[in-house]
Amino acid sequence: MDVIDIIVTKRDGGELQPGQIDWVIDAYTRGAIAEEQMAALNMAIVWRGMTRAEVSRWTAAMLGSGDRLDFSDLPRPTTDKHSTGGVGDKITLPLTPAVAACGAAVPQLSGRGLGHTGGTLDKLESIPGWRAELSPAEMRRSLTDVGGVICAAGAGLAPADRKLYALRDVTGTVESIPLIAGSIMSKKLAEGTGSLVLDVKVGSGAFMKDTESARELARTMVDIGNDNGVRTVALLTAMDAPLGRQVGNALEVAEALEVLAGGGPDDVVELTVRLGREMLAAAGLPGAKDPADALRDGSAMDAWRRMIRAQGGDPDAPLPVAAERREILAPASGTLTRLDAHAVGMAAWRLGAGRARKEDPVSPGAGVTLHAEPGDHVRVGRPLFTLHTDDPARFDRAAESLTDAVTLDGEDTRLPLVIDRIG
Ligand code: URA
Repeated sequence: MDVIDIIVTKRDGGELQPGQIDWVIDAYTRGAIAEEQMAALNMAIVWRGMTRAEVSRWTAAMLGSGDRLDFSDLPRPTTDKHSTGGVGDKITLPLTPAVAACGAAVPQLSGRGLGHTGGTLDKLESIPGWRAELSPAEMRRSLTDVGGVICAAGAGLAPADRKLYALRDVTGTVESIPLIAGSIMSKKLAEGTGSLVLDVKVGSGAFMKDTESARELARTMVDIGNDNGVRTVALLTAMDAPLGRQVGNALEVAEALEVLAGGGPDDVVELTVRLGREMLAAAGLPGAKDPADALRDGSAMDAWRRMIRAQGGDPDAPLPVAAERREILAPASGTLTRLDAHAVGMAAWRLGAGRARKEDPVSPGAGVTLHAEPGDHVRVGRPLFTLHTDDPARFDRAAESLTDAVTLDGEDTRLPLVIDRIG
């Protein structure tokens, strides 16, 4: 096959054939296609898009470039959730044990954060002793004994995506719905789940800023999952304001613990329960125990404690706390009508909760506590945010990110928590 023919076909708006897609992904992964040729093909895809058949095959080829875990012999059906990422999005932490407590098995392979949205592994690594790296046998043990595991994806899963994503990152070709959908789904399908619920975020703190592009991404990923034999549904959910009241690694674990103890902020509880119900239905367990009951009766907390212990963590150890705090006060009184997720995410990142490069460490205690949420009345001079950091030199830049983060007494443009369901 000739890579130039493939590039030219896509450049001119043609449809790639399955054999061409299989060949190009395999040859690129083996190093048999030059980076500049793959970059040209990616750019042609950015401009011309892909048909459903093309993107499903592209994803299957990336999936086939590495290992695919198989948990089909477990006594419980498997199901997982993937979020496209948001500010304060700690839902995986209460959701995985809640769904495990309701009878499904959740093989959740997660990542570390880059940029203003946090990574699930960074959050869990704030628990003393907890380790993200597990062997396939350890994963299987936790899935069998507890019903859930949250761990790092091994290097053997979808290696084509790892190489391709690094190239897209430096060639202006990340922003393409088929390429994003194929990239996310190749990794999720490789983890061996039998069903999948996607939480596609919409708003300033999300990858997708508007509902229409989020809907298109969701539809594309749902089609890829179903075309590849994994029952997949998606919820479009709000990320115009942060989720919950805490943003930052250990701060978010503490908030997840409140939810597991039967309390916590309403939006975090509601989204955990909605996603949990979708996961159980997708797993073929429609009459299972309700995740809301698992949060209320302590069974989700019990599963959490066993899951954390199985990975060396001490569920009773105090969580790390940042060395320094600063409060930001409300400049006036009024009703909070906008609290910008992106601004809060940037502030948490500048305080040390996130990383700029893959190799950077994160500060477990850093982040932002929100003292009000949209709809609340705030009083002049009362705390609006508490900033947490180990390095006080970071306060000023973080506070700058928050300068335009709130609107008082403006138009109420809040998105509903769950905007749509695609399945
Ligand atoms: N996340 C991914 O895993 N891949 C993309 O292409 C974009 C976001």
